[in-house]
Amino acid sequence: MTPDTTSAIDKQSHRPVAQVAFVIGIVASIFNSACASHRGADEQAWVDFATISQSVSRSGAAPGESPVGWRLWWTADEIYDGAGPTKPSLEKHGGLATSFRPLKCEYETEVANPGVMTADGQPQCEAIFINEAASNFIFERELWNRNKLIEAAKEGKVHFPADKKVSRQIKTEWRRVQSQRAAKYIVAAASDGQLYGLVAIHLMSHELPDWLWATWLHEDFAFMMPPAIGFHDAFGAKADGASSPALTSLLASHGASRLLHYKLIGTQHDFVDPSALGNPLIEGRDTDTLANSSCMACHRFAAISSNGSMTKPRVSTGFAKLPDGFFPVDFSFSLARRAVCQDAVGCNAAYELH
Ligand code: HEC
Repeated sequence: MTPDTTSAIDKQSHRPVAQVAFVIGIVASIFNSACASHRGADEQAWVDFATISQSVSRSGAAPGESPVGWRLWWTADEIYDGAGPTKPSLEKHGGLATSFRPLKCEYETEVANPGVMTADGQPQCEAIFINEAASNFIFERELWNRNKLIEAAKEGKVHFPADKKVSRQIKTEWRRVQSQRAAKYIVAAASDGQLYGLVAIHLMSHELPDWLWATWLHEDFAFMMPPAIGFHDAFGAKADGASSPALTSLLASHGASRLLHYKLIGTQHDFVDPSALGNPLIEGRDTDTLANSSCMACHRFAAISSNGSMTKPRVSTGFAKLPDGFFPVDFSFSLARRAVCQDAVGCNAAYELH
């Protein structure tokens, strides 16, 4: 494992120099403890998950919903709704909604083989949530407007805040949940009136310049994880897979003990040579796909060209070079994919095959 402060990484990423000193402190604290086992990164991921899931006022929440704080984050669907003129109404609330909105299910867009997602016979339901720091960054620079995004990306200025206000984005996967099982899930009420349980979650958190990446699976779906790949949690799981006392007390101290029903699959932070990390309910459950999926190796291709076109997401591990003429947008795929051309001149949003 290469700590995230080598010159190789500095060359590849596009972070402002001022961030580096801050980052070295964080990286040192993450890596000082047992580097080989990722304990520090795994612990940080759990701290993040517990922190963002702390209870908030239930304003607007339906009966049975879990009042987790991140339900007040704007969703990608809300931010990039395609209609420029509606944006000021969202922006005037600031980076955070004041009440719960019904969960709006979207279909999986990332997976190479969408068929695997419905193997359990339930409708797909996915939503991306973007925290206050990241939403404000998008609003202040009007990056939901693809024309503005192109300019910012060309100037190398798409860097979500990573200092005191840490940007975070999560991708959540939901399935209908029976009321007798609901106590074991984070529950949301969808616009169809049904209760859904959180079954899988991806987190990217900007404590690190190239984000800290983590993914969890609900214990009821742990059987989907191919044994050859398994779970790797040096902080939260004991050797037999049960929750560690450290995790139990961390979650209790955040009032987030329900998260004990979620299993950390693993974390990732090495951008130079990213290894495999994926979630069977998001990337796909077959061993080959999971063995070749890598958060950072794929999100590296969150980039746009000077006419707004995108690169294709890729299922691969290891470092890969961005094609010439593409400018990174800080690993944020929803930004690269969903920002909408407001002025069609010189702006398109199609994929380019490379
Ligand atoms: C094969 C490519 C690929 C892999 C592997 C992948 N992602 Fe993504 N991810 C995407 C795409 C594409 C989107 C945008 C989906 C959309 O706009 O609906 C996305 C969206 C996200 C989002 C929402 C914010 C954003 O960037 O748009 C998060 C958070 C996220 N992924 C985290 C992860 C984590 C954590 C992993 C690894 C465990 C991972 N991803 C693996 C392609 C990938």
